[in-house]
Amino acid sequence: MKVAIMGGGAIGLLYAAHLAKKHEVTLYTRTERQAECIRKKGVVLIQNNKSETLPIHAYPFTQVKGEEELVIIAVKSYHLHELMPSFKSFHHSAFLFLQNGMGHLSLLENLEAKTILVGVVEHGAVRLDEQTVHHTGIGQTRYGVWKGTPMHKLESLATPFFPFVFSEDPIQMLKEKLLANCIINPLTALLAVPNGELLDNPFYYELFLQTFNETVHALRLSNHEDLLTKVKEICRKTEKNHSSMYKDIQLGRKTEIDAIVGPALKQASLHHVEVPILEFLYRSIKGKEAPHR
Ligand code: PAF
Repeated sequence: MKVAIMGGGAIGLLYAAHLAKKHEVTLYTRTERQAECIRKKGVVLIQNNKSETLPIHAYPFTQVKGEEELVIIAVKSYHLHELMPSFKSFHHSAFLFLQNGMGHLSLLENLEAKTILVGVVEHGAVRLDEQTVHHTGIGQTRYGVWKGTPMHKLESLATPFFPFVFSEDPIQMLKEKLLANCIINPLTALLAVPNGELLDNPFYYELFLQTFNETVHALRLSNHEDLLTKVKEICRKTEKNHSSMYKDIQLGRKTEIDAIVGPALKQASLHHVEVPILEFLYRSIKGKEAPHR
Protein backbone atom coordinates (compact mmCIF):
# COMPACT_ATOMS: atom_id res chain seq x y z
CA MET A 1 0.00 0.00 0.00
CA LYS A 2 1.17 3.57 -0.66
CA VAL A 3 1.17 5.43 2.65
CA ALA A 4 1.79 9.13 3.31
CA ILE A 5 2.86 10.20 6.79
CA MET A 6 2.54 13.85 7.73
CA GLY A 7 5.01 14.97 10.41
CA GLY A 8 8.65 14.24 11.11
CA GLY A 9 8.45 14.20 14.92
CA ALA A 10 8.89 11.08 17.07
CA ILE A 11 5.54 9.57 16.06
CA GLY A 12 5.89 10.38 12.34
CA LEU A 13 9.38 8.85 12.21
CA LEU A 14 8.24 5.81 14.22
CA TYR A 15 5.33 5.07 11.87
CA ALA A 16 7.43 5.76 8.78
CA ALA A 17 10.13 3.32 9.89
CA HIS A 18 7.81 0.49 10.90
CA LEU A 19 5.44 0.78 7.93
CA ALA A 20 8.30 1.07 5.42
CA LYS A 21 9.14 -2.56 6.17
CA LYS A 22 6.08 -3.71 4.20
CA HIS A 23 4.73 -0.65 2.37
CA GLU A 24 5.76 2.25 0.16
CA VAL A 25 5.98 5.14 2.59
CA THR A 26 6.45 8.84 1.87
CA LEU A 27 7.17 11.04 4.86
CA TYR A 28 6.17 14.70 4.59
CA THR A 29 7.99 17.07 6.93
CA ARG A 30 7.74 20.71 7.97
CA THR A 31 11.19 21.58 6.61
CA GLU A 32 12.91 20.74 3.33
CA ARG A 33 16.09 20.29 5.39
CA GLN A 34 14.66 17.30 7.28
CA ALA A 35 13.14 15.85 4.09
CA GLU A 36 16.50 16.11 2.31
CA CYS A 37 18.31 14.48 5.23
CA ILE A 38 15.84 11.54 5.16
CA ARG A 39 15.96 11.23 1.36
CA LYS A 40 19.74 10.97 1.54
CA LYS A 41 20.21 8.91 4.68
CA GLY A 42 16.88 7.18 5.40
CA VAL A 43 15.12 6.86 8.77
CA VAL A 44 17.04 5.12 11.55
CA LEU A 45 14.93 3.02 13.91
CA ILE A 46 16.49 2.03 17.23
CA GLN A 47 14.72 -0.77 19.05
CA ASN A 48 15.91 -3.43 21.52
CA ASN A 49 19.50 -2.12 21.27
CA LYS A 50 19.52 -2.66 17.49
CA SER A 51 19.59 0.01 14.86
CA GLU A 52 18.07 -0.36 11.40
CA THR A 53 18.13 2.17 8.54
CA LEU A 54 15.10 2.29 6.26
CA PRO A 55 15.16 4.11 2.91
CA ILE A 56 12.10 6.35 2.75
CA HIS A 57 10.83 8.98 0.27
CA ALA A 58 10.60 12.34 1.99
CA TYR A 59 9.33 15.77 0.92
CA PRO A 60 8.14 18.93 2.64
CA PHE A 61 4.43 19.27 3.59
CA THR A 62 3.77 21.54 0.59
CA GLN A 63 4.33 18.65 -1.81
CA VAL A 64 1.63 16.30 -0.53
CA LYS A 65 -0.97 15.70 -3.25
CA GLY A 66 -3.16 12.92 -1.90
CA GLU A 67 -1.80 10.27 -4.25
CA GLU A 68 -1.41 7.74 -1.44
CA GLU A 69 -4.16 5.34 -0.43
CA LEU A 70 -3.71 6.13 3.24
CA VAL A 71 -2.59 9.44 4.78
CA ILE A 72 -1.49 9.25 8.43
CA ILE A 73 -1.52 12.57 10.23
CA ALA A 74 1.13 12.58 12.95
CA VAL A 75 1.48 16.29 13.73
CA LYS A 76 0.58 17.89 17.08
CA SER A 77 -3.07 18.89 17.41
CA TYR A 78 -2.22 22.61 17.35
CA HIS A 79 -0.50 22.25 13.97
CA LEU A 80 -3.53 20.69 12.29
CA HIS A 81 -5.13 24.04 11.43
CA GLU A 82 -2.32 24.85 9.01
CA LEU A 83 -2.47 21.47 7.28
CA MET A 84 -6.22 20.90 6.96
CA PRO A 85 -6.76 23.15 3.89
CA SER A 86 -4.31 21.05 1.85
CA PHE A 87 -6.33 17.88 2.58
CA LYS A 88 -9.64 19.29 1.35
CA SER A 89 -9.27 18.02 -2.18
CA PHE A 90 -8.02 14.52 -1.28
CA HIS A 91 -10.98 12.41 -2.41
CA HIS A 92 -9.16 9.15 -2.95
CA SER A 93 -7.16 8.84 0.25
CA ALA A 94 -8.32 7.51 3.58
CA PHE A 95 -7.08 9.46 6.60
CA LEU A 96 -5.84 8.27 9.96
CA PHE A 97 -5.56 11.02 12.59
CA LEU A 98 -3.26 10.22 15.53
CA GLN A 99 -3.53 13.37 17.67
CA ASN A 100 -3.64 13.40 21.44
CA GLY A 101 -6.83 14.74 22.99
CA MET A 102 -10.18 15.32 21.28
CA GLY A 103 -9.82 18.93 20.15
CA HIS A 104 -9.12 17.86 16.54
CA LEU A 105 -12.44 16.10 15.98
CA SER A 106 -14.33 19.26 15.03
CA LEU A 107 -11.82 19.88 12.21
CA LEU A 108 -12.56 16.53 10.57
CA GLU A 109 -16.02 17.64 9.44
CA ASN A 110 -14.50 19.80 6.69
CA LEU A 111 -12.87 16.86 4.93
CA GLU A 112 -14.49 15.28 1.91
CA ALA A 113 -12.58 12.01 2.18
CA LYS A 114 -14.78 8.90 2.17
CA THR A 115 -12.92 7.28 5.05
CA ILE A 116 -11.63 9.04 8.14
CA LEU A 117 -10.10 6.96 10.90
CA VAL A 118 -9.01 8.19 14.31
CA GLY A 119 -6.33 6.43 16.27
CA VAL A 120 -4.47 6.52 19.55
CA VAL A 121 -0.79 5.78 19.91
CA GLU A 122 0.27 3.69 22.89
CA HIS A 123 3.93 3.39 21.90
CA GLY A 124 6.82 5.15 23.57
CA ALA A 125 9.06 6.94 21.06
CA VAL A 126 11.82 9.50 21.28
CA ARG A 127 13.16 11.47 18.32
CA LEU A 128 16.93 11.61 18.68
CA ASP A 129 17.62 13.75 15.61
CA GLU A 130 16.02 14.61 12.26
CA GLN A 131 16.29 11.04 10.97
CA THR A 132 16.51 8.87 14.10
CA VAL A 133 13.78 7.55 16.38
CA HIS A 134 14.16 5.34 19.43
CA HIS A 135 11.20 3.00 19.96
CA THR A 136 11.36 2.97 23.74
CA GLY A 137 8.07 1.27 24.55
CA ILE A 138 6.27 -1.25 22.38
CA GLY A 139 2.55 -0.66 22.67
CA GLN A 140 -0.11 -0.62 19.97
CA THR A 141 -2.13 1.65 17.72
CA ARG A 142 -5.83 1.50 18.47
CA TYR A 143 -8.08 2.94 15.78
CA GLY A 144 -11.73 3.33 14.91
CA VAL A 145 -13.86 4.69 12.09
CA TRP A 146 -14.90 8.34 12.41
CA LYS A 147 -16.53 8.54 8.99
CA GLY A 148 -17.22 6.02 6.25
CA THR A 149 -16.78 2.30 6.24
CA PRO A 150 -13.75 0.50 7.62
CA MET A 151 -12.45 -0.24 4.12
CA HIS A 152 -9.02 -0.01 5.64
CA LYS A 153 -8.19 -2.99 7.68
CA LEU A 154 -5.17 -1.40 9.24
CA GLU A 155 -4.21 -4.71 10.80
CA SER A 156 -2.53 -5.37 7.42
CA LEU A 157 -0.02 -2.66 8.37
CA ALA A 158 0.94 -4.50 11.52
CA THR A 159 4.24 -6.21 12.27
CA PRO A 160 5.06 -8.10 15.51
CA PHE A 161 6.43 -4.99 17.25
CA PHE A 162 3.85 -2.71 15.72
CA PRO A 163 0.29 -3.98 16.20
CA PHE A 164 -2.92 -2.23 15.05
CA VAL A 165 -6.10 -3.00 16.97
CA PHE A 166 -9.59 -2.09 15.73
CA SER A 167 -11.96 -0.40 18.15
CA GLU A 168 -15.74 -0.48 17.60
CA ASP A 169 -16.26 2.65 19.70
CA PRO A 170 -13.86 5.43 18.69
CA ILE A 171 -15.31 7.95 21.18
CA GLN A 172 -14.73 5.59 24.10
CA MET A 173 -11.25 4.83 22.71
CA LEU A 174 -10.38 8.54 22.46
CA LYS A 175 -11.78 9.23 25.92
CA GLU A 176 -9.68 6.44 27.40
CA LYS A 177 -6.54 7.84 25.78
CA LEU A 178 -7.57 11.34 26.86
CA LEU A 179 -7.79 9.99 30.41
CA ALA A 180 -4.21 8.65 30.19
CA ASN A 181 -2.94 11.91 28.70
CA CYS A 182 -4.79 14.06 31.29
CA ILE A 183 -2.91 12.23 34.03
CA ILE A 184 0.50 11.36 32.60
CA ASN A 185 1.25 14.45 30.51
CA PRO A 186 0.69 17.37 32.90
CA LEU A 187 1.96 15.51 35.98
CA THR A 188 5.21 14.43 34.34
CA ALA A 189 5.68 17.89 32.80
CA LEU A 190 5.17 19.60 36.14
CA LEU A 191 7.17 17.16 38.26
CA ALA A 192 9.83 16.81 35.53
CA VAL A 193 9.92 13.00 35.74
CA PRO A 194 9.75 10.10 33.27
CA ASN A 195 6.35 8.40 33.00
CA GLY A 196 7.26 5.40 35.18
CA GLU A 197 8.07 7.63 38.16
CA LEU A 198 4.33 8.34 38.56
CA LEU A 199 3.87 4.69 39.51
CA ASP A 200 7.13 4.17 41.38
CA ASN A 201 7.18 7.22 43.64
CA PRO A 202 4.42 6.69 46.27
CA PHE A 203 3.75 10.42 46.62
CA TYR A 204 3.47 10.93 42.87
CA TYR A 205 1.29 7.81 42.68
CA GLU A 206 -1.16 9.49 45.07
CA LEU A 207 -1.33 12.43 42.66
CA PHE A 208 -1.75 9.97 39.79
CA LEU A 209 -4.75 8.39 41.56
CA GLN A 210 -6.32 11.72 42.51
CA THR A 211 -6.03 12.99 38.93
CA PHE A 212 -7.42 9.67 37.68
CA ASN A 213 -10.47 9.98 39.97
CA GLU A 214 -11.26 13.52 38.91
CA THR A 215 -10.85 12.75 35.21
CA VAL A 216 -12.99 9.59 35.10
CA HIS A 217 -15.79 11.53 36.77
CA ALA A 218 -15.40 14.57 34.50
CA LEU A 219 -15.46 12.36 31.38
CA ARG A 220 -18.27 10.22 32.82
CA LEU A 221 -16.35 7.00 32.27
CA SER A 222 -17.41 3.75 33.88
CA ASN A 223 -15.39 0.58 34.63
CA HIS A 224 -12.92 2.52 36.73
CA GLU A 225 -10.91 -0.52 37.76
CA ASP A 226 -10.32 -1.61 34.16
CA LEU A 227 -9.41 1.93 33.18
CA LEU A 228 -6.97 2.29 36.04
CA THR A 229 -5.29 -0.93 34.90
CA LYS A 230 -5.10 0.39 31.32
CA VAL A 231 -3.62 3.77 32.28
CA LYS A 232 -1.08 2.07 34.54
CA GLU A 233 -0.19 -0.26 31.66
CA ILE A 234 0.44 2.70 29.32
CA CYS A 235 2.56 4.35 32.00
CA ARG A 236 4.54 1.16 32.58
CA LYS A 237 5.07 0.46 28.86
CA THR A 238 6.43 3.98 28.43
CA GLU A 239 8.14 4.14 31.83
CA LYS A 240 11.45 5.45 30.57
CA ASN A 241 9.83 8.04 28.34
CA HIS A 242 9.51 11.71 28.91
CA SER A 243 5.89 12.42 27.94
CA SER A 244 5.29 14.68 24.96
CA MET A 245 4.18 17.49 27.30
CA TYR A 246 7.28 17.15 29.46
CA LYS A 247 9.39 17.36 26.28
CA ASP A 248 7.46 20.38 25.03
CA ILE A 249 8.10 22.19 28.32
CA GLN A 250 11.79 21.14 28.33
CA LEU A 251 12.23 22.49 24.81
CA GLY A 252 10.24 25.69 25.44
CA ARG A 253 7.54 24.66 22.93
CA LYS A 254 3.80 25.13 23.08
CA THR A 255 2.09 22.14 24.76
CA GLU A 256 -1.12 20.25 23.95
CA ILE A 257 -2.68 21.20 27.31
CA ASP A 258 -5.68 22.86 25.59
CA ALA A 259 -6.41 19.74 23.52
CA ILE A 260 -5.88 17.38 26.49
CA VAL A 261 -6.97 18.92 29.80
CA GLY A 262 -9.14 21.56 28.05
CA PRO A 263 -11.89 19.08 27.01
CA ALA A 264 -11.84 17.40 30.46
CA LEU A 265 -12.38 20.78 32.15
CA LYS A 266 -15.24 21.54 29.75
CA GLN A 267 -16.91 18.21 30.51
CA ALA A 268 -16.41 18.77 34.25
CA SER A 269 -18.12 22.14 34.12
CA LEU A 270 -20.95 20.72 31.95
CA HIS A 271 -21.61 17.94 34.45
CA HIS A 272 -20.93 20.07 37.58
CA VAL A 273 -17.99 17.92 38.67
CA GLU A 274 -15.38 19.56 40.91
CA VAL A 275 -11.89 19.06 39.49
CA PRO A 276 -9.44 21.15 41.56
CA ILE A 277 -6.38 19.09 40.60
CA LEU A 278 -7.11 19.25 36.87
CA GLU A 279 -7.61 23.01 37.18
CA PHE A 280 -4.31 23.29 39.06
CA LEU A 281 -2.54 21.23 36.40
CA TYR A 282 -4.09 23.24 33.56
CA ARG A 283 -3.04 26.59 35.00
CA SER A 284 0.42 25.35 36.00
CA ILE A 285 1.17 24.13 32.48
CA LYS A 286 -0.30 27.28 30.90
CA GLY A 287 1.95 29.28 33.23
CA LYS A 288 5.00 27.27 32.26
CA GLU A 289 4.35 27.80 28.56
CA ALA A 290 3.67 31.49 29.21
CA PRO A 291 5.60 32.90 26.21
CA HIS A 292 3.12 31.12 23.90
CA ARG A 293 0.00 32.77 25.36
O1 PAF B 1 1.77 12.14 24.87
C1 PAF B 1 2.49 11.18 25.24
O2 PAF B 1 3.62 11.32 25.68
C2 PAF B 1 1.93 9.77 25.10
O3 PAF B 1 0.62 9.86 24.57
C3 PAF B 1 1.93 8.93 26.38
C4 PAF B 1 1.06 7.72 26.17
C5 PAF B 1 1.45 9.70 27.56
C6 PAF B 1 3.29 8.35 26.62
O4 PAF B 1 4.27 9.25 26.95
